[in-house]
Amino acid sequence: MVTDSLRRMRVDPVGPLKGELTLPGDKSITHRAIILGSLTDGVTEITGALRSHDCRDTAKAFRSMGVASEEADDGRLQIHGVGLYGLKEPAEILDLGNSGTTMRLLAGVLAAQPFFSVLTGDQYLRARPMARVVMPLRSMGATILGRAGGNLPPLAIKGTRLQAIDYVSPIASAQVKSAILLAGLFTDGETTVTEPSLSRDHTERMFEAIGIPIHRNGLSVRVDGIKKISPFQMAIPGDFSAAAFFLVAALALPGSELTLREVGINPTRTGLLDALRSMGAVIEVSRQRIICGEPVADLHVRSQALHGTEIAGALIPRMVDEIPVFAVAAALAAGPTTIRDAAELRVKEVDRIAAIVEELHGFGVQIEQRPDGLIIQGGASLSGCHCDSWGDHRVAMALAVAALAAEGSTTISDPFCVSSSFPDFWTRLDAALPGAAVPLET
Ligand code: S3P
Repeated sequence: MVTDSLRRMRVDPVGPLKGELTLPGDKSITHRAIILGSLTDGVTEITGALRSHDCRDTAKAFRSMGVASEEADDGRLQIHGVGLYGLKEPAEILDLGNSGTTMRLLAGVLAAQPFFSVLTGDQYLRARPMARVVMPLRSMGATILGRAGGNLPPLAIKGTRLQAIDYVSPIASAQVKSAILLAGLFTDGETTVTEPSLSRDHTERMFEAIGIPIHRNGLSVRVDGIKKISPFQMAIPGDFSAAAFFLVAALALPGSELTLREVGINPTRTGLLDALRSMGAVIEVSRQRIICGEPVADLHVRSQALHGTEIAGALIPRMVDEIPVFAVAAALAAGPTTIRDAAELRVKEVDRIAAIVEELHGFGVQIEQRPDGLIIQGGASLSGCHCDSWGDHRVAMALAVAALAAEGSTTISDPFCVSSSFPDFWTRLDAALPGAAVPLET
């Protein structure tokens, strides 16, 4: 039997992207809705939840702690919350698959529980740094052990009554910020997190939307301990990070004209729009509105010629997940592009700087790595090749965009890792561009 990781996808450059697309629900927001819904004292209903492996792993972890959840065929998810203090000790090790967001946010919740839990994940997650959440949660009073002094999973957590802290984070990470804010809900005091630049603020927006008081002041955010969370209804916007692949493909494939409907455009997520605009791209945003505290809009894009640019600083956390596909846009743009201050990419699902450099080389792109970024000489024509996703969903989808813009066929190995965030990426791509994505058995 050929397992998914041994399969390959053939991607062919089959022409312009036209028409309309809707995207799956936002991954970050879905995780948060499941976590907070589990902690309410009633039934929470989520529409448009992302049904990806990562989000299912979050729901599964809460099921192991006594939270029932049901999924209807139309994507509606009902969560039977057990209250802030109603979780049960999981009898088994919680396997969180590939999901860093689940492990880090859950650590914040589990640090406050009066029980013992163990968190693990797949080979990629077990190699990702956890000290960034373990250290502050220890300083709130939790006992957390893990490999490498607590930096690497599995993590064993003995929760306790936590003390509030004032934490200045050395990195702009929404996972760190959110883990501490969640832990802060279980204290008697005021917990403040300050970050060096603004990371995605979905946790803050969801707290506000469901009635958990939150105080923002520049790069600091504060929560007070609370007694309960009321059940809520939440609609999840389309995932901007999923839209990004189609956005770049439409810019790159001559003759394209694409509308992406109902996409989340939270400004802490849309750095890619700013980066592409600095390359000369015109992207129209229409029908803007706010749904459950999150801005949503339609995006319209046509194919167009781009030029190189420089990105760094506070823009990077606002597009941290989009850098693989941005590198593909840069490879196709005229002139050089420089990406700096992006060392965080080295500790994502894989080292995405190394993965992008190695795989785009295969397409004939001149690209060099720096410890914290990339230098890409754009303008070359890409040639189809055999490349590898490295088991990373966003690398796989970025390579698919490169392949669509290349001459000749490309094969991508381990393509089904897309299921972490975008399970039907290949079928949607093939529906939008018939013949573009053909699974190969070997
Ligand atoms: C996420 C935060 C980001 C991002 C990840 C999802 C979240 O990670 O890369 O895909 O939902 O909070 P960091 O917090 O490590 O930057």
